[in-house]
Formats: sequence, structure tokens, C-alpha cells
Amino acid sequence: MSADSSFWRRTKSILELQEDLTDDARDPSALKRHLGPASLVLLGIGVVIGAGIFSITGAAAGQYAGPGIVLSFVIAGFACALAGLCYAEFASMVPAAGSAYTYAYATLGELVAWIIGWDLVLEYAIGAATVASSWSAYLVKFLGQIGLPFPVQWAASPFTVIGKLPDGTSLHGIVNLPAILIIVAMSLVLIKGIRASAAFNAVMVAVKLAVVLAFIALGWKYLDPANHHPFIPPNEGTFGHFGWSGILRGAAVVFFAYIGFDAVSTAAQESRNPRRDMPIGILGSLLICTGLYCLFSYVLTGLASYREFAGLDGLAPVSVAIAHTPYRIFTLLVEVAILAGFSSVIMILLLGQSRVFYAMSRDGLLPAMFCEVHPKFRTPWKSNALFAVFVSLFAGLVPGHVVGEMTSIGTLLAFVIVCVAVVVLRRTMPDAPRQFVTPLVPLVPIAGALSCLVMMLALPGETWLRLLVWLAIGFAIYFGYSRRHSHLCRKSA
Ligand code: ALA
Repeated sequence: MSADSSFWRRTKSILELQEDLTDDARDPSALKRHLGPASLVLLGIGVVIGAGIFSITGAAAGQYAGPGIVLSFVIAGFACALAGLCYAEFASMVPAAGSAYTYAYATLGELVAWIIGWDLVLEYAIGAATVASSWSAYLVKFLGQIGLPFPVQWAASPFTVIGKLPDGTSLHGIVNLPAILIIVAMSLVLIKGIRASAAFNAVMVAVKLAVVLAFIALGWKYLDPANHHPFIPPNEGTFGHFGWSGILRGAAVVFFAYIGFDAVSTAAQESRNPRRDMPIGILGSLLICTGLYCLFSYVLTGLASYREFAGLDGLAPVSVAIAHTPYRIFTLLVEVAILAGFSSVIMILLLGQSRVFYAMSRDGLLPAMFCEVHPKFRTPWKSNALFAVFVSLFAGLVPGHVVGEMTSIGTLLAFVIVCVAVVVLRRTMPDAPRQFVTPLVPLVPIAGALSCLVMMLALPGETWLRLLVWLAIGFAIYFGYSRRHSHLCRKSA
């Protein structure tokens, strides 16, 4: 096979990747190694706890799983743990900025690496747009409650129906301004530097954890056991509406709440001791969040009947639950904390996005501007600025549920590829040093890939179609630009 006809299989060897890292260590203009294990765990918690737990849980309990939503969290958490174990092996072996993209480049070849890098835009950039839409909805609600109503049409996309005129025609939004505002603000923090971003994140995580823990501790006393009976409400005749099938569908929906733990691995090049700390950051944050999610959803469905959450637009499950305690006065405070908590999710998803494109650009698959590091802030600021615009467009103009499902399917695809890649690398490079070893290979990666595939299948057909369109755009760019500009292509020429 000529070098050109096998272009899609060319891989970047682990040795080359490690050389890149050594070069970076000597380069004063490279990304800055500032993060220790605690910062990495905080980074994970900062990006994971957000719209999923505070917005989606109530609707998922009300429509699909009832109190059994706790089991949905266990199932989704288990699938993420399997994928997380695979991420941890790679991240300790190849601690480079590109995360799953880099792992695929070392194992499955350039084309699969490109696909995964392109697909990660759905997880990180589109994920940030999703959480920004939720942030905007919470902000509008909060402002309304304190007597400062925000015009609804300026907080909704042109494709979102916000009401009906007397003659029956639908009224649409104009643009989601608050969503754009928070994306631009978080991009500016990121440009300022990894130290500033980590400090901002630490404060936001403290606020967020305080709310979650206070909700669990204070709510526990007021649980009404009747709300937890039956724990798994009987199926209502169709797949996914209560019963065990409802718990499965609930797992696919609340999967969104776990998205982001893998973003820790994109910060590998900014970690002081990535080989040891990457697995700690990824698995530690996942473990803490799974425990908190199970307790949180148990208290939520114990305070109010799951039926009360059924008609909610995803905004107010926490307020509905708090209304069953004597602590109603805290509702506003909780909402402020939730707004703060969402902002760190948006920031770290944007961080992950810029670091993946940084790695792709360094390999020549994307233009050099994505890996230009600011001389003073040591961040890929042009990439951050460009994504501020791109993500703002999505958040401002596309409805929240559409971007949310695209985020889930994109993330699940990345997880499947990483699980497969672990098995491949065990065969192709069995002796390469691994600081963290995924247990029970190939059982764990195969179970991880299958459980993620099952969750992908639970997503609507339109979401699959959007994924295919997105990947088709990616192929066009790869064959039009990246394939010829790849540094490996130049080396083999
Ligand atoms: N897991 C993140 C959230 O729930 C994306 O907001």
C-alpha cells in the first residue's frame, strides 16, 4: 500500500507524542503546567455538576422513571465509570492536551482521530451552548422573581415558540442574549490564563457543592416515604414510560449530567504530574459526582411526588422540592448558586474545546492559529475567541433541547471510540509503560462501549441525522484540507 492510499491509517506513535511533550516542557511559550490533583478533581466537579442535575433530573423523573431516577443515575454512572477507566489509562500514558483525539491518533489512525476530534466539538462547544441556554432560562426566571422582568423574546432562539398571538399565530424568540453574554464572559476568563480559570472554578465548585450538600442534608428530614412508593412506578404501556424501560430511558437522559468528566483529560498538558494525577482527576470527580447525584435525586423525589415534576419545563425542580420544606426563603439563594455553578460548566467545556483544537492544529490537521499561545497569558487565545463567537451563535440561535441531544450523542460516540482504542493499544503496544491500567481488559472496555451504544440508540432519530450531517461536514474538511496539511503526511512525503 502506498503512503498516500494508507493515509487514513497513519498513526502518531506514542514515542512521537512523548517527544512533543518533552519539547513543550522546554518551551517557555507552551501551555503552563499549573494544575495539581486537587485542582483536577475540582475541574471535574466544576464541569460535571450543572444543568443535568439542576434542570433535567426533575423532568426525567416526572416523565420516565419516577423515584427510580436514582437507579437511572446508577446505570448512567456505571457506564461512565467504564469509559472513565479507559480514559484514565490513556491519560496516564499520553498526557497530551487533545484527550480522546490524541489517543485515537496513537491507535486507530489519523482518520478516526480526525472524526473524534471533530465529534468532540459536539461535546464541548455544543455542550457549552446547551448549558448557556439553561443558564439564560434560570436567569430570566430569577430576574422575574426579584421584580426585574427580562423580555422573553430576547432570551429565546428564533426557532423557539414563546407564545401565541390572539389570531393563533406563534410568537418566536429573537436571540438568546443572556446565553451569549455568559459565553463571552467565560471565554474572557479562559483567555486570562489557566491559573485564573482554576481559581474561578474553585470558587464556583465550592458554591455548587454547598448547595447540593445543604439540599441533601436539610431535605433529608422532610422526606415523605409515600413519595418513594412505588419506587419504580408501573409501566404505562409504552417503552420508556415508567417501569424498567423508563429507568433505562431515564439513564440516557440523565447521562447529560455526567458529561464533562473526560474534559479533565484535555488539561493534561497543564497538569504538573499528569501520569499520576490524570486518573485521580477523572475517576475521583466521577465517583464524587455519582454519589452526590444519587443522594440528590433520592431527596428530590422524596420531598415532592415525581408527578409534580412532570409538567415542568426543566427549570424549577429544586424550587418545587424546596416548597415542601420550611426553607422556601432560600429558593432565591439556591437559584443564584445554580447560576454560578452553571458558569463553571460552560467555562471548562470551552477550555476542553480549545485544548482539543490546540492538539489538532499542532498536528497540522487544523490551521496554525488554533495552537497560537498568547505570549503573556500562555493560553490559546485565538481559539478561545473564535469559539466564543461560534458557541454564541449556537446558543443564541438554536433551541436548547436540540443542542442538548447533539451533545449527548457526540460524547457517547467519543466514549465508544476510546473504549475500543484501549483494546487496540493493548494488542499493538502491549509493553508500553502505563501508569494506570484499566482492569479486566477487554471486558471493561467492551462493556463500556456497549452501554454507551445502548444509550446512543435511546436518543431520537433526528439526533442521529444531525450527527451524520456534522460528521459529513467533518469529512469534507478532512479531505479538503487536513489530509494534505497533516504533519505526518509531510513526514511521509
Ligand atoms: N454535565 C454537565 C451539566 O450537567 C454538562 O451541566
